[in-house]
Amino acid sequence: MTLPVVAKLYANKTKIERFSLSSCLHNYYFRPMKDARLRIAVTGSSGQLGQELQWLAPLYPDMEFTFFSKQDWDIAIESVNELQLSTSQLNVVINCAAYTNVEKAEDDFESASATNSKGPGYLATACKKHGALLIHISTDYVFDGHQHVPYIEEDSVNPMNMYGLSKLHGEQAVDAATNRYYTIRTSWLYSRYGHNFYNTMLRLADERESLRVVDDQIASPTYAKFLAEDILHLIRLKLLDFRPIPFGVYHYTQLGETSWFGFAQEIMRINQKTIQLEAVRSAEFPTKAKRPQYSKLSTRKWEEYTSIALRTWQEGVEACRLSSSSN
Ligand SMILES: NC(=O)c1ccc[n+]([C@@H]2O[C@H](COP(=O)([O-])OP(=O)(O)OC[C@H]3O[C@@H](n4cnc5c(N)ncnc54)[C@H](OP(=O)(O)O)[C@@H]3O)[C@@H](O)[C@H]2O)c1
Repeated sequence: MTLPVVAKLYANKTKIERFSLSSCLHNYYFRPMKDARLRIAVTGSSGQLGQELQWLAPLYPDMEFTFFSKQDWDIAIESVNELQLSTSQLNVVINCAAYTNVEKAEDDFESASATNSKGPGYLATACKKHGALLIHISTDYVFDGHQHVPYIEEDSVNPMNMYGLSKLHGEQAVDAATNRYYTIRTSWLYSRYGHNFYNTMLRLADERESLRVVDDQIASPTYAKFLAEDILHLIRLKLLDFRPIPFGVYHYTQLGETSWFGFAQEIMRINQKTIQLEAVRSAEFPTKAKRPQYSKLSTRKWEEYTSIALRTWQEGVEACRLSSSSN
């Protein structure tokens, strides 16, 4: 179909038809050339989420990835963000960099803030200046956990610990610096890589005969590989398929909710470990950093705008087991 024919068709259409026709035209004329791939940088690439993205990268031929560990791209140094963005012609930055030691953050708020608050602000400023979309990751710990129903994006934030506070400041810094961003709040992230609850449970199952696990904190465990896949899916939908997915904050977890005790039970069951588990109250495990009692995040907004189907948290545990055993 030639352009004048399309233009005539366009003029004769209803408003809704015109909208979808104009999307088609936009897709046609602004589609990247066959060999032009989306240029994506991943910061904090040695962490759990960063490593899952590295594993997935070869499966996405329409995307060209560069992975940066903290040594290569320290987001807490303002000039490094500007330098990386000004020299790389990036379409997207996925910020997996974070100070994630919740206990240590109580005593070292300055370090937590440098990476979790100031860093995302510097990054967002550089992204805006150089026209890159920023995907930033945040946490359920921005909420105080006093609710009894899943938190939606608009619910009031009130972090209970310094890590949560530093992450909240990071969200705010991103929002102040750019409007082309997705901040994705997630919870209880785990994968086969790194220090996390899943790996700790399996290690302890081999070392001990019994284990006491907290059963009065509720949220949804999130398998980092599922999150990584769905971040790439979101980028594809937004930048290659031009789907109208509004920028802003989204909640992303797997479906369902459980306690740390329930999560531990499932990890043991799926991995056929026979260790004895005992459910205990948080008060029996005093920690410096307070944790929210209930921080299940509602994923309705994510599902509505992206139509990316979410899996259950139990499917995540099973997928993690399969992925660990395939290595
Ligand atoms: N883990 C969870 O349960 C959880 C829950 C909710 C949300 N999140 C969020 O999800 C995201 C990914 O978490 P994750 O579990 O993958 O974290 P992770 O495994 O701790 O990885 C974070 C990575 O960031 C790097 N890093 C630290 N400071 C940096 C800096 N200034 N510049 C660049 N890189 C830096 C770390 O390097 P070093 O190791 O060398 O310091 C590490 O490789 C984070 O935003 C986190 O806040 C995590």
